[in-house]
Amino acid sequence: MQKKDTFFITTPIYYTNWVPHIGNSYSSIIADLIARYNKISGKKVKFSTWVDENSQKALNKACEQNMEIKPYLDMMALKHKEIWNWLKIEYTDFIRTTDEKHHNLVKEVLQKSFDNWDIYEWEYEGMYCVWCEAFKKDEDLVYLNKEKNVTFPISDKVKINENIIKVCPDHLKTPDKIKEKNYFFKLSKYENFLKEFYETHPDFIIPSDRFNEVKAFVSRWLEDFSISRETNKFWIKLPFDESQVTYVWYDALFNYLTVCQNWNEDFWPANLHVVGKDIIRFHGIYWPAMLKSAWYELPKQILTTGFFTINWQKISKSLWNAIDPVEFTKKYSKDLLTLYLLSSFNIWQDWDFDEKQAVLAYNAKLANNLWNLLNRVVVLSLKLSEKAWELFWEILTDKEEIVDLQKINNWLSKKVVLQEFEENMDKYDLKKSLEINFFTLDLLNDFITKSEPWQTIKQEEKTEETRQVLYIVAEWLRQVWLNLYTFFPEKITEMFEKLWLKNYKNILENWWFEELKNKVEIFKIIEKGNPLFERIEITKN
Ligand code: MSP
Repeated sequence: MQKKDTFFITTPIYYTNWVPHIGNSYSSIIADLIARYNKISGKKVKFSTWVDENSQKALNKACEQNMEIKPYLDMMALKHKEIWNWLKIEYTDFIRTTDEKHHNLVKEVLQKSFDNWDIYEWEYEGMYCVWCEAFKKDEDLVYLNKEKNVTFPISDKVKINENIIKVCPDHLKTPDKIKEKNYFFKLSKYENFLKEFYETHPDFIIPSDRFNEVKAFVSRWLEDFSISRETNKFWIKLPFDESQVTYVWYDALFNYLTVCQNWNEDFWPANLHVVGKDIIRFHGIYWPAMLKSAWYELPKQILTTGFFTINWQKISKSLWNAIDPVEFTKKYSKDLLTLYLLSSFNIWQDWDFDEKQAVLAYNAKLANNLWNLLNRVVVLSLKLSEKAWELFWEILTDKEEIVDLQKINNWLSKKVVLQEFEENMDKYDLKKSLEINFFTLDLLNDFITKSEPWQTIKQEEKTEETRQVLYIVAEWLRQVWLNLYTFFPEKITEMFEKLWLKNYKNILENWWFEELKNKVEIFKIIEKGNPLFERIEITKN
């Protein structure tokens, strides 16, 4: 089969003042499975990720640890890579923004925009939050009562004293006062262009609520923004004024183009940027304008993810309440994490991360539902015959008395399940995509309970009926697994093996998803084997 379309997906590049926490892993896990789905569906996939190194936060951190910046960044880049490898994030490209080829590209685009009269010099005075890497206006800040550790809006009437300070609401830190020469990007020039672009690309940002927020922001007033600083010799020098270095967002956003430089195939424009809601304005507003200014095509879509909290507190590297994804998946498993992250909440919602709920979801869906069904088929099939057992399809027309067969075949009409799954995957509604499969498993559980193959197996004259019930369940498991392969590739591969579906992983990874779905299989069960997805006991405390 010939590879057809290309699909280029990106994660945000991560700051290196700390190693990724569970919130950051969310973006990578989502991007990884969307990449996998496109790969098995026949697209040539490029998936890029890694580190955003040119930030004040990284410099501060290196300084705190008494390290030179270069060894510090090397160490952190390696740590990030180890974490993504541990979590089995199958990226095809990674980028460090200190790479020379990235510096060259950023210089090139800066020059293009400068030549296009979109970059100008100005003296800037303002408050800068290094943790957000953004300038803040008064209305963006909140008051913090240091004694009581509570915040309240600037609009509240309060008596100011030394215990009440203005802070960034996300990081609870006072922004730095900055006054210096800066270069600015003329974002205001692109207001009409952006409005028209949004109009003609109604799915540019998903979900639509976030898109509406972005549109509302653009309609209010677009301000030009600062793109350079005087300080720091380490970062990318502006090609038209070497006394200045570029500062977020030029060097960060253009990573997406740098990773496209080495390839013979043309992957730009990106099909999908996965970003958290905190950086949607930069991706949804700055980024299209910056690309347009330098004559590049615009990305096709941006998927915005919500934020999760721990005990209703924002997870943040700077607030030190982060959960380590490596520790968490060592304690449980990557599958448990993926299942919980994607089946419990819509990806664009905000929600609270709850370890106990994660275990409950795993027990209910993967251990009880998915694994139990397979286990039943295996055990019963082995009982049917002492030697290896083969399950194969026979037309069931005159056997409708076999329990609710009509109902199950109606609902489980391949067309409906396949279509619904694929439609939701195409909309990136991963929660619904998973739900369809677990709902199918619930129906199969009902079906097998009503069919009582453990009873019919005892009656010799019903051997054929029993075999057919088991075949139906096995075939529907196969369909569900093909869908779930995107989410849990390793365990599902083991499940395929249990029914003698050899080499499925290879076939899938070589873009035969559709073909496998339509194939009529013969299942062979030769041994019970190890349990997969075992229940986890919840310890009370
Ligand atoms: N370096 C910038 C992105 C530049 S992209 C050109 C950055 N880095 S980050 O390390 O702070 O965040 C990376 C991603 O993690 C962002 O998409 C952010 O939204 C996401 N998350 C950070 N905390 C999160 C949660 N608590 N929950 C979900 N996602 C979170 O921003």
